[in-house]
Amino acid sequence: AMIPVILSGGSGTRLWPLSREAYPKQFLALAGDDTMLQATWRRVEAIASRPPIVVANEEHRFMVAEQLREAGCKPTSIVLEPVGRNTAPAIAVAALAAMRDGADPLLLVLPSDHVIPDGEAFRSAVEQARRAADAGRLVTFGIVPTGPETGYGYIRAAAGEGVRAVERFVEKPTAALAQEYVASGDYFWNSGMFLFRAGAYLAELERHCPAMLAACRNALAMARRDDDFVRLDRHSFTQCPADSIDYAVMEKTADAAVLPIAVGWNDVGSWSALWQVAQQDGDGNAHHGDVIARDCRNTLAWGNGRLVALLGLKDVVVVDTTDAVLVAHKDHVQDVKSIVTALKAQG
Ligand code: GDD
Ligand code: MG
Repeated sequence: AMIPVILSGGSGTRLWPLSREAYPKQFLALAGDDTMLQATWRRVEAIASRPPIVVANEEHRFMVAEQLREAGCKPTSIVLEPVGRNTAPAIAVAALAAMRDGADPLLLVLPSDHVIPDGEAFRSAVEQARRAADAGRLVTFGIVPTGPETGYGYIRAAAGEGVRAVERFVEKPTAALAQEYVASGDYFWNSGMFLFRAGAYLAELERHCPAMLAACRNALAMARRDDDFVRLDRHSFTQCPADSIDYAVMEKTADAAVLPIAVGWNDVGSWSALWQVAQQDGDGNAHHGDVIARDCRNTLAWGNGRLVALLGLKDVVVVDTTDAVLVAHKDHVQDVKSIVTALKAQG
């Protein structure tokens, strides 16, 4: 059996002001009519043997339930986190929930905020990874790097074809290292999508991070369940150490494997990334909503009800929302995060 585990707990701060804590990017329709959460389910619907286990923050429960219903998805369960503890615990509670009836299914771990234009190629890659995952490997899907991005995990794969052993896994290297990795041609980006047996993941967690596993067990054992949600026990889950699957498990395990894929993957981590996946006119402009532009090149404009008019601009991002407007140069969109941090500090 293969069950998708959809992670929907992130806050997508680099897409401010569109993406907000109360309304992060996975709940937005950034590429096409479906929200990114809905697109994540639709992408794997045909190959899943059961509906997904969705792990999300308690505050987003109504949006999650509503959007899945709209997409015709009746999830196996929606597990609610009272606080975010990053991806390693989120995946752990999903794995524990999946093994409750004594089964040991394959889990296809999917962030809910990625764009994958070639869904067909992605589904066949998952099929291709199955055998290795069945045999106990923790398979990650690897992306050929296009530049020295420091926001990704880097994987050095052993020589060969198809599913390959991981020689090294380096989460978020320095710029200098990233440069070196990309130049070498031996490294792939970790896409953040994984395929492994629930039991294999939990065994690795037990080995490398037993306190985390124990806290997750307690949080699930004492969870409150109703028709729609599994609410993790607040006290136990708050005690849980926070860490990503990448640091907690993938960097440490001897069972990591990688399958390189070419599916047009983009994690839409910034306005410039969104630009790449948005439809552009002949001058490189990508506009969403009610936008008029004259003599513009390489602009991204995101309207939101009001008319946005651009004149004679180049390499500029404009994002309009009801209570905030972003105007930024294309080369500075990574710094949006610092604005969000400053706003938070102001309270
Ligand atoms: N349920 C839940 N709870 N989900 C979470 C939590 C949490 O506490 N924290 C993050 N997520 C979800 C996010 O919504 C996102 O979909 C996914 O898990 C990954 O988290 P990010 O915060 O976006 O991770 P990252 O971008 O820093 O790094 C990861 O993704 C990169 C590719 O996009 C790593 O796996 C990198 O190695 C990888 O290259
Ligand atoms: Mg991310």
